[in-house]
Amino acid sequence: MARKAFIAGNWKMNMTAESGKQLITELKPLVKGAKCEIALCVPAILIPAMVKAAKGSKIKIGAQNVHFAKSGAYTGEISADMLKEYGVKYVIIGHSERRQYFGETDETVNKRTLAALENELTPIVCVGETLEEREGNKTEKVLARQLETGLNGIEDITKVVIAYEPVWAIGTGKTATDGQAQETIAYIRKKLGKLFGVRNANKVRIQYGGSMNANNCKGLMAQPDIDGGLIGGASLKTDFATIVNYDK
Ligand code: PGA
Repeated sequence: MARKAFIAGNWKMNMTAESGKQLITELKPLVKGAKCEIALCVPAILIPAMVKAAKGSKIKIGAQNVHFAKSGAYTGEISADMLKEYGVKYVIIGHSERRQYFGETDETVNKRTLAALENELTPIVCVGETLEEREGNKTEKVLARQLETGLNGIEDITKVVIAYEPVWAIGTGKTATDGQAQETIAYIRKKLGKLFGVRNANKVRIQYGGSMNANNCKGLMAQPDIDGGLIGGASLKTDFATIVNYDK
């Protein structure tokens, strides 16, 4: 079964209601003919306005995090129910910035992923090694741990999107080469095969993320195991439409 390409933007802590609306309005006609699935994962407070702005287009709105509890004493957190109520379809889980600055662990990634699936949100689970880990030849070991723990107990892995984001490539302008990204993503697929069966693993969409832009997207998307991208910086401008139209 062919995997449908999926390009998602990650606005991180950027944009305002006004600038976000303006960008989405500019993007709408530019992405009209795109064949891939498209999402923009925006700051939580912008979700209602961006869902409204994207209405009638191929752009679906996602969140950047979700709490695992249904409700309760978790100051500052947002539940899957709340996201769904406002029309959210996707949620990024375990981004390296959350792991680095907010104490996210493979265990909390797992709990958040299960909560997202239970509420029919598509989780975009981020994995990736640091520069130190890559240089120490620990990439596969780190990814294996992140996948084993982060995806533990998932019944239907085909409902999950994985984003491979080498930490050293995020926001640095240093993209993994096409070959490096392909090789590592092929390893991730192989590992998913061991955990969930090869047939299921072949259906899972795996994105590349880390300084992906309008210039390098074609080469990355041409790799057999790369099914999409998670785009940070370049999703804040109309370059995002060029990436979405990588096959044109
Ligand atoms: P970048 O970010 O494209 O700005 O490197 C990607 C990400 O962190 O998701």
